[in-house]
Amino acid sequence: MKVLIIGSGGREHAFAHALSQSPRLTTLYVAPGNAGILQQAQAAPVDPADHEAVAAFCRGEGIDLVIVGPEAPLVAGLADVLRAHEIAVLGPSKAAAELEGSKAFVKKLAFDNGIPTAASETHGAAEDALAALDRFDLPVVVKADGLAAGKGVIIAETRVQAEEAVRACFEGAFGAAGSRVVIEAFLVGEEISCFALCDGSEYRWLGSAQDHKRVGEGDKGPNTGGMGAYTPAPCLTPDLENQVRRDIIEPSLTAMIDAGAPFQGILFAGIMLTSAGPQLLEYNVRFGDPEAQVILPRLGAHALDLFHAAASGTLAQTGDAVALADQHALTVVMATAGYPGDYQRGSEITLPPSPDSNVIIFHAGTRREGERLLAAGGRVLTVTGLGDSLTQARERAYTAVDSIHWPEGFFRRDIGWRALQADPD
Ligand code: AMP
Ligand code: GLY
Repeated sequence: MKVLIIGSGGREHAFAHALSQSPRLTTLYVAPGNAGILQQAQAAPVDPADHEAVAAFCRGEGIDLVIVGPEAPLVAGLADVLRAHEIAVLGPSKAAAELEGSKAFVKKLAFDNGIPTAASETHGAAEDALAALDRFDLPVVVKADGLAAGKGVIIAETRVQAEEAVRACFEGAFGAAGSRVVIEAFLVGEEISCFALCDGSEYRWLGSAQDHKRVGEGDKGPNTGGMGAYTPAPCLTPDLENQVRRDIIEPSLTAMIDAGAPFQGILFAGIMLTSAGPQLLEYNVRFGDPEAQVILPRLGAHALDLFHAAASGTLAQTGDAVALADQHALTVVMATAGYPGDYQRGSEITLPPSPDSNVIIFHAGTRREGERLLAAGGRVLTVTGLGDSLTQARERAYTAVDSIHWPEGFFRRDIGWRALQADPD
């Protein structure tokens, strides 16, 4: 089977790594990829933003499956163009990608279908949004409606901050994403990421993880794309998992089918486990990064068959449940000093010759110049350790991190702290 991966981060390297374990994979392509992915895949000479060019490449090469890593091409409609050319794609249509592309869309879907989520109001004019603040306690959450590269959510501790956030949205701080604003009640609890593999009518549970969004240890400092993750999330008990599936994921997928926009791809539910039960924070229409780097290694050689089945609408033929290895995995993101603010590109990285077989060094923002491996982004590597316990997975990950020579990089030493504090093993 020939597969094309779209994207260039650690998540896409995790896809490449998992697919490469399948004996059915014949050729792997990537556009645009990074230095790590390009050790396992050939570069496809296409711009992912040029949907017709991607389709033409796939037809020309006889690609059997396209996996779209990031959300932007999905929200822009890449999957629709590929499907119109009868190319199987793991990723939702533009209409179904509204689950990530519009926070107002998700809130309406949740309210219309009785899905537990924070109380909220959506407004298209600043004066209405400002007036709505009277109806919410502090802290209050102000969200730009559209895609804002993870920056469009402001948790305002004071009324003044909330008003500033509303004005910033309408004054274009988040571009077109801020032309509508969602004002939302603040939820308290542990946040988890849940994943479902969906084929447009059925779904399979792909497990849970917890991310670490803040740049600094102790969850301090500005938000990032994610500084580390682990799976499974121990706070998600089997009972809570059933609630998430029954009360959140299943009614959402049914509502999308009823709306004529069935979801085909990987659905990522951001969930807050509150004292009143699990509540939906947000949907993403693709795998999480760095969550993919802990969950995909547990899928192993099944990944290709499962993703192809989801992209072909034949999940029913793959069995009732996805077999995830009974393992723990923890990943540590190594980022360039300065991230998520300004940082310099081009510093040199030296990797250890051959890491432990229970460790995978995924590349995120890297490129090769001759024999040299260079940092080419904010998040640069994600180092995953696998083990029989979270403690063992963590030890393996940090031992590998410590064997990487990269003076310009930094990482958090406390990935996994919540889970390890709750249950030291
Ligand atoms: P979102 O992009 O909607 O997931 O928001 C980004 C982050 O903001 C989430 O991962 C949460 O950590 C936080 N957040 C969003 N909405 C809420 C809320 N209603 N209550 C508390 N935290 C929230
Ligand atoms: N790790 C969070 C995300 O991928 O959005």
